Amino acid sequence: MTSRTVLPRGDTIVSADAAVVIVEEESAAAARRAAEHIAEIARQRAESGNECFLALCGGTTPAQMYRSLAAPPLSESVPWEKVRIFFGDERDVPHDHVESNYRMAQRALLDHVPIQPVRVHPMPADSDDLAGAAAQYEALIRQRVASDKRGVPRFDLVLLGMGGDGHTASLFPGTEALKESKKLVTAYHVPVLGRRRMTFTYRLINAARSVLLLVTGEDKAEAVAKLLAADPPDKSELPAAGVSPAGELIIVLDSAAAKRTDLRA
Ligand code: 6PG
Repeated sequence: MTSRTVLPRGDTIVSADAAVVIVEEESAAAARRAAEHIAEIARQRAESGNECFLALCGGTTPAQMYRSLAAPPLSESVPWEKVRIFFGDERDVPHDHVESNYRMAQRALLDHVPIQPVRVHPMPADSDDLAGAAAQYEALIRQRVASDKRGVPRFDLVLLGMGGDGHTASLFPGTEALKESKKLVTAYHVPVLGRRRMTFTYRLINAARSVLLLVTGEDKAEAVAKLLAADPPDKSELPAAGVSPAGELIIVLDSAAAKRTDLRA
């Protein structure tokens, strides 16, 4: 069973007038739905003669979705030669480390599809000069991704997850990164983690043509209910509430994550 609800978005919206919320009974179905949406965007961009610029996220939720995207026949429908992949955030570990978002995406997706390595751009989040590395990654994005009329590179799709505390990408509650209004990519020490992270800022996320927020599991139900409330908390308390793309916002949930809302599969 699937449900599709269009919710008016609160005053956090920059321009789009609604978020589409899709609830699937099981996490596997939610993962498939998200994979199908990404494949469709890649096909649409290729059919219009464009490259497709994707920003992937990490954590555990996307792995199931990446495996769906890497599995035929869906994977065979994607024009991988037109796809260019960046990462929306990364941990301060080498790319072969078990905690690396790049490594997770590589094992679940990139090793199984015919995308040339030169079209995949891991975030250098384990650099000693993290601020310099963030500036370099931002420069790479500016070089590769066409900008909107405000001069901000416009991804075709930014994939996001959400933590139980409402963080998204590596934008954590109560941190300075939430206030960053100039940089597109920033790096900082995250007090709650005791670790450094590199992350897209809202400025880059919200310039996207499409943002897909994939959230599954009962442990996210409270944060989802806050996010979808008529009057969501401020982004400083719930960073996912600051995701307000110029284009479409699609939120894909499983029934466990939607449990504290009145949305059902
Ligand atoms: C990361 C992710 C992060 C993730 C959430 C949810 O680097 O951890 O990019 O933003 O989406 O933490 O993580 P789970 O999917 O593991 O619940």
